[in-house]
Formats: sequence, C-alpha cells, structure tokens
Amino acid sequence: MIDVKHSVFHLHTAWWSCLLRVTKNGLLELVHFGAPVSEKDVDALAVKPGLGWGSSILLDEKDPASCADALPLAWSGSGRGDYRESPIELEDENGPLPAAFRYVKHKIHKGSVLTRFLPQAQNGEETLEFILEQPENHLRLKLYFSVFPTVLTRRAVLENSGESPVYIRKMMSWSIDLPGRYQMTTFDGGWIKEMQKHTVPVEESRVVNESVTGFSSHRHNPGFLLAEPQTTEEHGTVYGFNLIYSGNHYAGVQRSLQGLNRVMQGISPVNFRWEVQPGGFFETPEGVLAWSGNGFSGLSLRMHDFITEHIIPEFWQKRPRPVLYNSWEGCMFNFNERRLLGLAKKAKKLGCELFVLDDGWFGARKNDTAGLGDYNVNKKKLPHGLKGLAKKINHLGMEFGLWFEPEAVNPQSHLYSLHPNWILKDNLPPLTGRHELLLDLTKPEVRDYIVDAVSAILDDTNITYVKWDMNRHSTALGAKAHAYILGLYDVLRRIFVPRPQVLLETCSSGGNRFDLGMLTFSPQIWCSDDTDPIERLEIQNSLSYLYPQSTMGAHVSAAPHAQTLRNTPLTTRGNVSFFGVLGYELDLDHLLPVEEKEIAAQIEYYKAHRETFQFGAFRRLVAEEGIGWQVSDAGLHMAGLFHKLVPAAPGYERLRLRGLKPETEYHVESRPQNLRIGPFGGLLKHVAPVDINPNGAVLRTVDHRATMPDAKEDFTATGSALMAGWMLPPRFSGTGYDKNQRSQGDFGSTVYEIREKT
Ligand code: DGJ
Repeated sequence: MIDVKHSVFHLHTAWWSCLLRVTKNGLLELVHFGAPVSEKDVDALAVKPGLGWGSSILLDEKDPASCADALPLAWSGSGRGDYRESPIELEDENGPLPAAFRYVKHKIHKGSVLTRFLPQAQNGEETLEFILEQPENHLRLKLYFSVFPTVLTRRAVLENSGESPVYIRKMMSWSIDLPGRYQMTTFDGGWIKEMQKHTVPVEESRVVNESVTGFSSHRHNPGFLLAEPQTTEEHGTVYGFNLIYSGNHYAGVQRSLQGLNRVMQGISPVNFRWEVQPGGFFETPEGVLAWSGNGFSGLSLRMHDFITEHIIPEFWQKRPRPVLYNSWEGCMFNFNERRLLGLAKKAKKLGCELFVLDDGWFGARKNDTAGLGDYNVNKKKLPHGLKGLAKKINHLGMEFGLWFEPEAVNPQSHLYSLHPNWILKDNLPPLTGRHELLLDLTKPEVRDYIVDAVSAILDDTNITYVKWDMNRHSTALGAKAHAYILGLYDVLRRIFVPRPQVLLETCSSGGNRFDLGMLTFSPQIWCSDDTDPIERLEIQNSLSYLYPQSTMGAHVSAAPHAQTLRNTPLTTRGNVSFFGVLGYELDLDHLLPVEEKEIAAQIEYYKAHRETFQFGAFRRLVAEEGIGWQVSDAGLHMAGLFHKLVPAAPGYERLRLRGLKPETEYHVESRPQNLRIGPFGGLLKHVAPVDINPNGAVLRTVDHRATMPDAKEDFTATGSALMAGWMLPPRFSGTGYDKNQRSQGDFGSTVYEIREKT
C-alpha cells in the first residue's frame, strides 16, 4: 500500500514499512525503512539535527536542519553540500555538472511500471513515482519505488529536455541512508569457488562490492547483506539488497559522522559514460531491498518468496523441475550417437527424466579451441542429426535438452571467418578467454543471427530444456559493457518469451552470472563447475542467503572430484544435491552395482519429496556440528545434516529444527542409507570369521556388491521437542561398528523426512 499525507509518503505491507518525507528544500528524506510502523510515527522516527555541525553547508542559511550532509536521504546529489557518496554524477561538454534534483510532483501507479529494455520484477502491487527536476540543466529524474509483499524495488530514469547532450558518469538504481551499526556480508570468489561469504564491519571508510568483468560475475555477486552485529539465523535485524541486472555492478556502503550508513547500488561507474541525447532518457536496472527482524533466515525467506513469485518466469514459478542427466562431466567432447543413447538408456533406468547433451555437438568442436558459433550439427558424431537423437531419446521415455554458448565464437569457426567484424572489440587487438571471443550483441545483425540460429533448432527439434552457457569475461568497458547486456536481454527475450515451456538453465563457467537479471529468463542457474559436495555445501549455503533452492542446478558427479581430487560418499553427493534441482553428471558406463542401486534410490526419494525440496521454505539450521538445512511445505519438512571431517571421540549431537507447530506430533524418519564396505579396509578382520586381504579381490568384489546399513531413525516427537533439538544416534568412536551408529566417516550426511501426523 502507498499512503500519502501532505509531504509524507508511507509505503508498506505486512512485512515492512518505508516512510519518506519531502523536505522544505525538495529533498527526499528517508525517515524509516524496516519494521512495519505507522505514518503517525514520522516525528518520532525522524532525525533531530539540532543546531547542526561546524563547517557544513546549508541549503537555507536560517535553517540548521537544511544541511543535506546530515540528513538520511532516499536520493542525493553533488555540489550542494552533501559530501557523502553521490548516487549520480553528470557532465556536459564543459565538464562536471552539479546534481541537485528537487521534488516537483509524484504519481501513484497500480502495479509495476514497465522498463523499456531491462528485465524487471513482475506484478508489483503499487508504484510510487517521484518526479524531481534540475531546471537549470533541463533535466528530470524519475524515481520509481515499487511495493511487493516482502520487498521494495527501486530504479531511476533520467530525461534530458535540453538542447545539448548530457553524459552520465554514474547513476545508481537506489541510494538510502540507514541509522545504526552494521556488518556487511558479501559473496565473492572465482571459478569453482563461487559465493565465498565474507563479513566486514561498516565504518567510516567506504566498503565496495563491485564487478567490472562485464558481467555480474563470480568475483562479487551483486547481492549483499547488512546486519546488526549480534544477528543470528533466527534473531536480529538484517537488510538484504540485490540488483535485477547481469552486467558490471557496484555497491558502496559508508558510515557518516552522524552515524548514518549510506548504501547505494547500481551499474558500476568504472569507465562509464553514457550519452543522453536531447529528448532522450537513460534508465537504471531495478534494485531490490528487503528487511527482516528475524535474522538471516527470515531475510532469506523474504528474498526467496519475492524471486519465486515475481522474478522467475511465470510458467516455471512452482512447476516441478525434471531430474536430468547431463553429458558433460561423463563425456566432455568425446561422444557419438551410440554412446549417448547408451547413457540415456542407463539414465532412464536410474530414474532420470531429461537427457541433456552438453558441449561438443556442432561444427568442428573436438575440444574447446574450435567450432563455437557454428550451429550446424556434427554429422560424424550425430549422423541422424539432433532431430534423430531427440526422437530416440523421446522414444526411451525421456525429454531432450541441449547446450548452447551463443554469445561467443572461436576464431577457428566458419562464423568468425565469415564475419570477423561481428566480435566485441575496441581499437586494440581482441583477447581470447577459453579460446573464445565474444560476439558484439550491441549490433542488431549479430542479435538476429543468434535469435534465428537458436530458434530454428528449438523449432526443428523436440527440445524442452536449454543450457545457455558463456565462458569468459568481457573486455568491454563502461557504457559498451552495459549496451552488451541490453543486447543479451533482447536476445533472451526474443528466443524464450515466445517459448515459455522451454526450461532455460543459464550458466557461465558455473556461477559467473548468478543474478536476478538472468533469473527473469531462466528459472534455474548452474551454481558452479565445482560438483564436489563439500565445496557445494558452502556454495549452495551462501546462495541460499539470497536465492531460493529452485534456482540452483545441483548435480551428482563422480568421485574423486574433478575439481578437488576429494573422495566423497555417493550418499552425501545425493543429499547435498537434493536441496537444489537434482541432476546427474557422471559416466554411467562404469558405475558399480552398489552405485546404481544408490542412485536409483536417490532419484526415487527425491521424486517422492520433490515439491518440498524444490519449493519448500528454506532455512539454514544452527547445527551443533556441520551444516544443517531444512525445507518446509504444508505438513512436510525435509532436513539435511552434513559433516566435513570426523572428530575422534565425538560428543553427543543434537539437531534443532525450526518452524514446526509446538503441540503437533511429527513422524521423523531418516532416509535409509547404506555404507560402502571398502572404506573399512583392514578393519574388517576384527569382525570377519576369515582373514581378509584389505587390498585383495575378495574385498573388492564384496565392496562392489554389498553394503552395510547406516543408523536409521524412525520415531515420533512433538514439534517443541524437535525444535528444542533431538539427540542423534552416536557417531563412530573407534570402538566398533554397530548398525545403530552413524559410521559415515569423513563427509557423511543424513537426510530426514519430518511429517506432521494426522
Ligand atoms: C562450462 C560449464 O559450466 C560446464 O558445465 C560445461 O557446460 C562446459 N562449459 C562446456 O564447455
């Protein structure tokens, strides 16, 4: 809802409130953003500037409260006495211009107000549009505040009604000043090391979260958090921020002398210079702001709800996602139709529903040095074409999905030899990354080529899933990098909006473009090329702060893992992937009988609980040891407990659930799990009646076929007991095997079903 009284604007839902006030000098004062309050509270909540601060500049000499530098603002500028970071920097032919926009009027719109080029959140309740002007330069600034149940979104539009161009050096999507003490959490990393969580205190020196790779990047995810220092998963105040954008981004956070924290976010200003012609305009991407008084998990639930309901394409919002088999880690470039069909048969038998052919199906693509850009099928590998392969896969009872990397081209390709001028470049020789150049998506003819090539394949072959990959950083700077992203959105919109039923999974060397911009087209994103479940625990855990689990492509791969050489139990590989969109990505030809059995059991279990795993309310649990996750749906809750290295002589351990009904009885059952015999090695001699050679054929044969049961839990308890923390079965403590003990060794885990009793 948006209520307006005199100069006070109250935007509010059941979850949050934002109180704004227009000052005498036409500034937008941010009186409050956070817990729901009433507009009657404006005076109580507003700052009390007193007689002001020495050396300060006043907008009105007689009014000490007119010091812009000391006010909490919802937008600011430069050259008018606010020396904190400005959300906007402008210039004309003669150099820098002051930015001093003053309120003129406002409008209230039902729903969201559409942007012209950028993706945006859908179906907002109401939008408040502030119109500010700087008549001296014939400039108008429109600030849009859209109300969604759990979040507020904001963006800015600059219009030039003058007679000469204006240049934007910096224009943020939003800016706010928050009172209080905060710690900032960012999610940083690189290839196979995405989303590493870092927390720093917010002080007087500016903290910056920024990407300049041309994309949102795995280096610094655009989403970040500000939390009061004592905040936990369950308690405390947290603000969460994100940007519906996939290009270079920037966020700056800095505390002022008065204890106001200026926070802003938008396109990175590094090398940015965008010309706004007379009569023209520029619009920023939309930012997302959320508040929670219930700790980090509370904040995540609000972000998840917003993404599921308002970002993900409508067709896929709550539609169960198929369990897929992907050919990449198992085959890489080395396959032909026979091999693929063999794998598909096995995948089908194990329970997979969708067969995805990854890289290597086109042109001269023997490895990653050639062929990219040429979308003609490689007839040596696939003599019956994609259509023939898809038909046979469909005949097996599976859907067919296909990989593309349409934004890039290998210099060794027909496309490059035909159109060397289609690549993205400046006046220096172009540089490759993974032997690739980027196509210049700012050129309409390049966009048309991609739209036509991909659409033709989608229309010719029965393809229900597309993996859209992109494997390098860009070298485009500033405005060009932004124009590229607008071009990319145009391409994605033209291909996928008319084909809503095609499930799009985007990927950029893993999670190099895991952002809300891509999610407006693709319901899921490949989180990381790191499929080691212990690494994935951290990556998926960090992603969960900002993104729901239905957006995370999570695959079981072979161990030792290609990224770490770590050996992990197949049970844990499955258990971690359950808390995302489950898939398999390994060579099925060399599975042992025990592995086949385990994978089939995993898929069956996942399917039986799929809607809760994919769309249940996600909570990070406060586990006494390891990492705990819980997803909850109506009467069903699924929990996972994951350990890293085992300690010697482990103590008692409890698991504490959340969000249950205290008085209600629940049936708790752990997923039946079996232990491989091989890892016990020579220890078996202590229990076996005969001498067993730990390196011999007998043990190997037994290990490939038989397993031993791991501890099984099956009991009933009240919600209050489960939330207080139930005592788990003992862990292996060096004194022997028992079937009621968790003898999982390193990297063990357990998944639980907690069902409300009726
Ligand atoms: C990088 C992706 O992240 C992988 O999953 C795979 O699709 C390769 N590209 C293919 O080249």
